Amino acid sequence: MEFTMDIFKQFDKKWALLTAGNESSFNTMTISWGGLGTIWNKPVATVYVRESRYTHDFMDNNEYFTVSFYPEQYREQLGVLGSRSGRDIDKMNESGLTAVSAGESMTFKEAEVTLVCRKLFKQRLLPENMPQKIVDTVYADNDLHDMYIGEVVDILR
Ligand SMILES: Cc1cc2nc3c(=O)[nH]c(=O)nc-3n(C[C@H](O)[C@H](O)[C@H](O)COP(=O)(O)O)c2cc1C
Repeated sequence: MEFTMDIFKQFDKKWALLTAGNESSFNTMTISWGGLGTIWNKPVATVYVRESRYTHDFMDNNEYFTVSFYPEQYREQLGVLGSRSGRDIDKMNESGLTAVSAGESMTFKEAEVTLVCRKLFKQRLLPENMPQKIVDTVYADNDLHDMYIGEVVDILR
């Protein structure tokens, strides 16, 4: 699998969509925290999902998820998917993106690239293991992140 990008800019500046579920039931949300790397001799994607997100339920209930990246022209759509919850609106119709299957999971036709990931690991990011300044600024409401590591099993373009 060949894959090249400026990974720091890719998440932080361009954002991505994290999608979990299957054709009959799935949800997606915008993410800008994440990473790509290697663990247990596997290529992996790591994402961080607060417990309050509707997508969190789908991450827990499905073995696969996707991380997908988009051309600049879809920034507005990513803004909607990152500010409204699938609990409150029909995200798929409001976003203007076209959902398509991606292996065992889902992505969107408009994606430049989609990483199909099989969940390997989940771990709560506990306040006692991080600097107090981060706890105070990011977790004042105690809405903690769970870290999910997925093996990248396919790259779709
Ligand atoms: C640019 C951007 C980046 C975001 N990154 C994350 C993230 O990495 N992790 C997270 O839990 N929420 C993140 N969010 C917030 C979720 O996308 C947002 O709460 C979304 O409405 C959740 O949708 P859901 O409830 O349908 O899952 C981000 C939002 C934006 C706009």
